[in-house]
Amino acid sequence: MYDLIVIGAGPGGYVCAIRAAQLGLKVACVEARETLGGTCLNVGCIPSKALLHGTHMLHEAHENFEKMGLMGAHVEVDWDKMQAYKAETVAGNTKGIEFLFKKNKVDWIKGWATIESRGRVKVGDTVHETKNIVLATGSVSQGLRGVEVDNDKAVIVDSTGALALPRIPKSMVVIGAGVIGLELGSVFARLGADVTVIEYLDVITPGMDGEIQKQFQKILAKQGLKFVLGAAVQRAEAQEGGARVTYALKKDNSEQVIDADVVLVATGRRPHVEGLGLEAAGVKLTDRGFVQVDDHWSTNVEGIYAIGDVVPGPMLAHKAEDEGMAVAEVIAGKHGHVNYGVIPGVIYTTPEVASVGLTEEGAKEIGRKVKIGKFPFIGNARAKAQFLGEGFVKLIADAETDRILGCHIIGPSAGDLIHEVCVAMEFGASAEDLALTCHAHPTVSEAVREAALACGAGAIHA
Ligand code: NAI
Repeated sequence: MYDLIVIGAGPGGYVCAIRAAQLGLKVACVEARETLGGTCLNVGCIPSKALLHGTHMLHEAHENFEKMGLMGAHVEVDWDKMQAYKAETVAGNTKGIEFLFKKNKVDWIKGWATIESRGRVKVGDTVHETKNIVLATGSVSQGLRGVEVDNDKAVIVDSTGALALPRIPKSMVVIGAGVIGLELGSVFARLGADVTVIEYLDVITPGMDGEIQKQFQKILAKQGLKFVLGAAVQRAEAQEGGARVTYALKKDNSEQVIDADVVLVATGRRPHVEGLGLEAAGVKLTDRGFVQVDDHWSTNVEGIYAIGDVVPGPMLAHKAEDEGMAVAEVIAGKHGHVNYGVIPGVIYTTPEVASVGLTEEGAKEIGRKVKIGKFPFIGNARAKAQFLGEGFVKLIADAETDRILGCHIIGPSAGDLIHEVCVAMEFGASAEDLALTCHAHPTVSEAVREAALACGAGAIHA
């Protein structure tokens, strides 16, 4: 009899299993994939970061090496080698989790789990008994009506197919200007593909700070990505040598077509709830198809919990990890907590985009009076030395109390810089607290401090 069986070994599930074992529980984690780590590690965050890094290096070689006196570097892409580098990056990490499972005495039950009833998890022909179950089954590509994804044919693909294309396409249409579309779109643009992104809304990255959206689109356009905004894709059909995408422009309802070697469907993901026995076990879903949970990640069935992409909230690996640790604490009789107000979001393009907390638009909507401190990276010596002077830091603080409410960064290492603001927010810091904190020179983090200074008496270098 286990204390806990976790279903799914993605960032939510494996972290939950490890934390629960550290807290003294007897734990198993069921995973059907050949390797641990879930979508994020196998076909998501990690392999995409390998390709983003590799193609960023390519860009540096082409655009900036000669400027630094590095002559004669004629860099060409060997796609098979780049794929091998990607695979090694993934393998190193999946093996790492296997090691951590062994170290923490978490049993990996290989196979597909279905919940027979409360406390009974069936994998293959064996039923495992457990006091608690955590569902951490993640999400799957949402797809689009009229667009049939077939990753094996490598013409109309989702993110999994795009990461493993057999060759670099000459042209690519990306449907959806969200995180996946823009990260993978910029990978293939840097590899030389002619990339067009078609987006239903009039802006890219919906929900982001408006100024960041505009600047981000400008920078990506300069990098060669083309955008068709306010356009609803209606269908995509494979044809000789590629595919044809048909979309309707919202402004005049006109129907347009565009042909490309490859079409990437990046129109969102949906919770993975099928084939798990949830109905039989009586686990309730929300009207949007997520597993319904209370403040302690408990479903309506006692002893069955759920975390990560399969429950409402941002579909982010780190949100799932936090929930995984917290629910393990709850099951072990302690106090698990996640502060949903301080969850950073990062887009790993070059430059990176990162955001946490309230946006300027969000503040207006709720009638909150705020002050804004902005600082451009062009005023940061370190960023300029690295040809990374594009972008800015935008810090949002309460107009009266000076308490930091949010931060939005587009620029070098934005995904790392955001965390000092996250820590500051967790501690309820004011913009002045951040402004009074000594930041090493020369670092790009000085731009965050300058934005904090701009909330008060003013930035020095702008
Ligand atoms: P998304 O929800 O971020 O973006 C989808 C976009 O597709 C939206 O802008 C939407 O308006 C557009 N769209 C939908 N239907 C359309 C149509 N018919 N025609 C044109 N445009 C259409 O979804 P995405 O990029 O697929 O990502 C899925 C999830 O994975 C997100 O929740 C994201 O946060 C997460 N993710 C996070 C990453 C990160 O944190 N760096 C990386 C990759 C994914």
